[in-house]
Amino acid sequence: MSEKRKIIIDTDPGQDDAAAIFLAFGSPREIDLLGITTVAGNVPLSYTSRNALILCELCNKPEVKVFAGCDRPLKRPLVTAEHVHGKTGLDGPELAEPTYSLQSRHAVDFIIETLRSEPAGSVTLCTLGPLTNIATALQRAPDIAPRVRELVMMGGGFSEGGNITPAAEFNIYVDPEAAKIVIGSGIPIVMMPLDVTHQLLTRKDRVARMRAIGSAPAIAMVEMLEFFERFDVEKYGSDGGPLHDPTVIAYLLKPELFDGRVCNVEIETDSELTAGMTVIDWWHVTDRKRNVRVIRKVDADGFFDLLIERFARI
Ligand code: BDR
Ligand code: CA
Repeated sequence: MSEKRKIIIDTDPGQDDAAAIFLAFGSPREIDLLGITTVAGNVPLSYTSRNALILCELCNKPEVKVFAGCDRPLKRPLVTAEHVHGKTGLDGPELAEPTYSLQSRHAVDFIIETLRSEPAGSVTLCTLGPLTNIATALQRAPDIAPRVRELVMMGGGFSEGGNITPAAEFNIYVDPEAAKIVIGSGIPIVMMPLDVTHQLLTRKDRVARMRAIGSAPAIAMVEMLEFFERFDVEKYGSDGGPLHDPTVIAYLLKPELFDGRVCNVEIETDSELTAGMTVIDWWHVTDRKRNVRVIRKVDADGFFDLLIERFARI
């Protein structure tokens, strides 16, 4: 990658969000992190904002700006996932309360102002949680949509189905109305669904390689992942849990690790049974607009090599 990629990370940390943020922190040659925006999702906003600050502090990144965003979905009550991530969202390691502070601006204002002030087509949005902040920004300032270079999201599922309901993946399920706005915005979108992330298991040998790095961030990450995986190991009977959110950053660093195709994706918002389902027209059986690059394959060993190499650079 020749030029540095300007990104905003929109997130609800979450142990796997933490892994994505660490991957960005470990890649300063390729990534220019303009800011982290937080949203309610895995846990309420007060925790996701606190957690983002803790992660910056753990990696000694006082220069990274963190903006708190929306505390609830556009139209629905907030659904959280403490059953996966623990009460704080970063359960696992002992973590001190942050001394770093949030920026005073709201995340949505930061997103709008950044997209308006940076050259058009230069900023990539990386979304690791429900899409409430991005949809709110698009509703308030529709002029920003054509200025976004690309939006890479973790969300949705195709043949894997859902993880919070049989039909829906968590990030989309929490705020389907927001996802619908984002998917329909005309922004070039890359989607990392469960089909990809379920190929990326925190196997013991991989976690041992992270532990061997020996730094404080690496050890904290290992302790986070060991807590995080217990739920999915029990649920799926797999060797480790799926690592969802770092796929977004890995795609920017090494797109050759991934494979997918551009097809139509629509979001179900009406049905009670399938709310938040990503209806993916993989086989092009409709003539609806091909609006999303849906990824389904990943080189898992290459992904973990990248992750571990970059964690070691923090
Ligand atoms: C997604 O939901 C959250 O629990 C994870 O952080 C990830 O973003 C996976 O469905
Ligand atoms: Ca997340």
